[in-house]
Order: sequence, then structure tokens, then C-alpha cells
Amino acid sequence: VLERPRHLKAITSSLRHRPIVALLGPRQCGKSTLARSVAKAYAGRSTWFDLEDPQDVARLAEPTLALKPLRGLVVLDEIQRRPEIFPILRVLADRSPLPARFLVLGSAAPDLLRQSSETLAGRIAFHHLSGFDITEVGPDRIDRLWLRGAFPRSFLAKSEEQSLEWRENFLRTFLERDVPSFGIRIGPSTLVRFFAMLAHWHGNIWNSSEFARAFGVADTTVRGYLDVLGATFVARLLTPFAASISKRQIKSPKVYVRDSGLLHSLLRLRDREDLERHPQIGASFEGFAIEQIIQQTRTDPRDCYYWRTQAGAELDLLIVRGRHRHGFEIKRTASPKLTPSMRHALDDLDLDRLDVIHLGEHAFDLAKRIRAVPIRELAVTPKS
Ligand SMILES: Nc1ncnc2c1ncn2[C@@H]1O[C@H](COP(=O)(O)OP(=O)(O)OP(=O)(O)O)[C@@H](O)[C@H]1O
Ligand SMILES: [Mg+2]
Repeated sequence: VLERPRHLKAITSSLRHRPIVALLGPRQCGKSTLARSVAKAYAGRSTWFDLEDPQDVARLAEPTLALKPLRGLVVLDEIQRRPEIFPILRVLADRSPLPARFLVLGSAAPDLLRQSSETLAGRIAFHHLSGFDITEVGPDRIDRLWLRGAFPRSFLAKSEEQSLEWRENFLRTFLERDVPSFGIRIGPSTLVRFFAMLAHWHGNIWNSSEFARAFGVADTTVRGYLDVLGATFVARLLTPFAASISKRQIKSPKVYVRDSGLLHSLLRLRDREDLERHPQIGASFEGFAIEQIIQQTRTDPRDCYYWRTQAGAELDLLIVRGRHRHGFEIKRTASPKLTPSMRHALDDLDLDRLDVIHLGEHAFDLAKRIRAVPIRELAVTPKS
């Protein structure tokens, strides 16, 4: 088992400040494992409900009655199965003194979950979990993390073959069993095809009509497919940042397959050599680095953007926190150079700083407020 002390600390600390903590992330990223470590600290004073287990669901037939007498920590695993429990948590979270805190785990954030969480404003803290990150695996295993992706079972597999096999199984189970169980009614074969096409689109700006044509359905329908993969944390949708309303702006999100390992298996890249030969290797690295940055800086996905102007200037990732703007460019090279586009981004967006994440060994300044940063350094850089 690979320890995940940063997440453990963050969740434990959130639980001290909020009556409810939601741990959200894709299937199989390690939510239950992490929650078990959190629960350990509560010694005997924790209760676990797995909402995929019919027996546990039966124990919760009368949720208020079942939850009210509990003390310590209550874990509700796979909460998306019973979103109607959310309103009940509100009442239980407002008790004083507080007899119990709730850790809810979810593999999907459909609208219902989002809406009910709004009624819990101020009472709930969200914690996003992905597979392993660079800090957890260490700088020397970045290549493996990129190639195999971050799902624990895929990353830790004994061989490349076993890793790939795990990912192929995961995709099948996820699209054929999990997605339908979230109450989403899209045929599995349609979603399989859609996910494969999305992989080829990885790192590009979403184009509804292109996908609609390929699937022979309405624009809104394919956009619905995309949102399903976003809500289940397997696709990343980056919103375009609107610097000013006077300029003609691109409105569509940029889309990525979040896990590089899943991307590679969707693209049928079996090993390092396949990846090296593939035209999308740059896009793959870009998506990988973006996910790492978002995790490392623990940024709320809603604060993440991309930026592009009609004139062709662009920024791969923009993180906006209050009045602070931190830009990132990703370059799959060991020696990135300063480009006019970087200057434009710095000036037009008035960035505090722009980091150019690259594959080399050294960090160096490219210009004032523009710095080349090796991806290895993300493993040691403190939060921005
Ligand atoms: N830190 C870790 N080190 C080693 N293996 C891990 C770690 N975390 C998770 N795993 C393994 O990965 C698999 C998925 O983990 P886990 O069940 O915790 O994920 P999950 O997010 O709860 O998945 P699901 O949504 O399917 O319930 C398990 O086989 C688990 O043993
Ligand atoms: Mg689980």
C-alpha cells in the first residue's frame, strides 16, 4: 500500500472544521481505502455504510432513525446511490453539540448531488481525489505514472501487460455497469465509442457539431455524453477564461481524458514505444501535467481555465484565485523557450506568474515572472 499522508491530513483537518466532508473522485481511485485510514483515527467510534451493499441499504431504510444515535465518524460510501440522504444530513449537521461527523464518498457528481450540496453550504467541505500524484509516487516514477496513469491498481501492476489489462477491464466495467448504475441511460456501446472519439479529441476545444455528426444525434445529446464523463470524473472540461467581453471569445471548453493511462488504453498505446510514435504524445503530456498541477495546488476545478485568443495567443492552464492569476504552459521538451504567446498571456491576463512546465531537469527564468519549471519539481513545490 502506498501511503497518502497529504490527503489523510487534509481530510482529517476538514472533518475538524466541518460536520460533513465529501470525498469525490472517479471509481477505483482509492476513496474507500483512504476513508478507512481516516476512520482508523476514530478508533471504535466510526460506522460505515456502503450504499452498494443491499444489507447496508436496508440498515438505512429509515435514514434519520438509523443515523441519529451514531457517535464519532459516520462514513457513507457511494453516496450517489442515495442522494436523498443529503437533506437529512443537514438536520444532523446542525445539532449542538455535534455527536457525529459525516464523511461521504462519491464517484459521481450529478446535478442532484450538486443541488443538494448547495443546501449544505457552510456545513460541507469538498475534497477531490484522483489516483496517485507525483508527490505520492516520487519524482523517479513520473514516467511510469504518465504511461500507466494514476489509478492505484494500474500504476502498481506487476507488468505493463497487467496494467493495460486492468485499465481495459476498468473501462468496460465503468461504462457498462457503473454509469448505468448512476441512473444515466445511455447505451454502453454508444459511450464506448464516444469515449474513444473523445480520446482522439484530447486537448482540443470541444466541437458539438463534429461529434453530433459522427453519432447522428443532436448537438445537445453529444454534449450530454460529455457531461456524463465530466460528472463521473473521467473527463476534464476546462472552461475558457473570458478576459474581456469586448474581444470575440471562444466559448467551448477544452476537453481531456483525465487519466493518462486511460487515454493511452483508449488510443491503443500499449507501451512507451507506442506512445513515443503517436502524434498525440504532446497532448498526452499536456493533459498529464494539467492534472498534476490541479492536484498539487489543490485547486477547485471551478477555478481552472484555459485561455486562447482569436489572434492565436494561448495558455494551457489558468488558475484564478481571487485577484491572483497563475498561468501554466506545458512543453514536452527539456529546454523550453520564451514565445510571443507567453508574453501576450502575461500582459493580457496580468498574470502574477507564468510557469512553463517541461520535461527537463532544471528550473530557470525565461523572463520577468516567467519561469521554466521541470515537472519533477511539482513533486516538491509547495502549494501555489
Ligand atoms: N494507497 C493505495 N495503495 C495501494 N493500493 C491502493 C491504494 N488505494 C487504493 N488501492 C487499491 O485500488 C483499488 C481501488 O481502491 P478503493 O476501493 O479504495 O477505491 P474507490 O475509489 O473506493 O473505488 P470504488 O469507487 O470502485 O469503490 C483497490 O484494489 C485498492 O486496494
Ligand atoms: Mg469505494
